[in-house]
Amino acid sequence: MIETKHITKSYQIGKQEYPVLRGIDLKIQEGDFVSICGPSGSGKTTLLYVLSGLEPYDSGTIFWSGVSMNTMDDKEKSRLRAKDMGFVFQSYNLIPHLDVYENLMLAQVIGEKINKEKMMELLEIVGMKEYIHHFPAQLSGGMQQRIAIARALINDPKVIFADEPIGNLDYHQGMEIMHLFQTLNKTYHKTIVMVTHNEDTIRFGTRVIRLLDGVINDEAMVQ
Ligand SMILES: Nc1ncnc2c1ncn2[C@@H]1O[C@H](COP(=O)(O)OP(=O)(O)OP(=O)(O)O)[C@@H](O)[C@H]1O
Ligand SMILES: [Mg+2]
Repeated sequence: MIETKHITKSYQIGKQEYPVLRGIDLKIQEGDFVSICGPSGSGKTTLLYVLSGLEPYDSGTIFWSGVSMNTMDDKEKSRLRAKDMGFVFQSYNLIPHLDVYENLMLAQVIGEKINKEKMMELLEIVGMKEYIHHFPAQLSGGMQQRIAIARALINDPKVIFADEPIGNLDYHQGMEIMHLFQTLNKTYHKTIVMVTHNEDTIRFGTRVIRLLDGVINDEAMVQ
């Protein structure tokens, strides 16, 4: 589904170039649940952004279902993102003055028919059906993250990218969210690419990739 060939990326600060990704070769298959681990600054978030086309890369190629991102313009990348990708971040990024229903409405691709049934189905999956008219501030962190996950699912993406999605949660709420991701992977066949700091979460996935200084240092299946 996603294949990268020797991706590199540097950030330039003043005249100095700082390499962040130094040749990433990676294959993500449909149905994978990949945990990306590594120390702070190793390039995990950058890799996620580059894979999803949110950040440009300097050299190499990324193929999405066989199509090179090098050949896509910004509009095509945006369309690919809207159609095939969902995003979940450490901070839930819900709009505070909108209730759950309105937050989800906002995430639907413009021009698509608004489908309340679908929305209720997603709220059911994330266990938040009774909270449709709550505002974010009335929900716990774990609940807000559930809504953010429902939002990520609204356009029925193939892949969910998550950047430390339980980083702000206590252990118990974090594990509940991990179970939810596992269900999305196993039952709903979502491919998941998750950045994590927490070794405890790796067991919920199917593969682990360890980054060190912008290269893949280790790669393993999870058993
Ligand atoms: N927009 C930017 N401009 C300049 N340098 C950046 C930018 N974004 C990231 N970097 C640098 O790139 C390196 C990798 O950053 P990245 O955020 O990918 O690391 P990370 O592995 O996600 O770290 P963390 O675990 O702390 O989130 C860091 O040294 C960081 O300072
Ligand atoms: Mg990061």
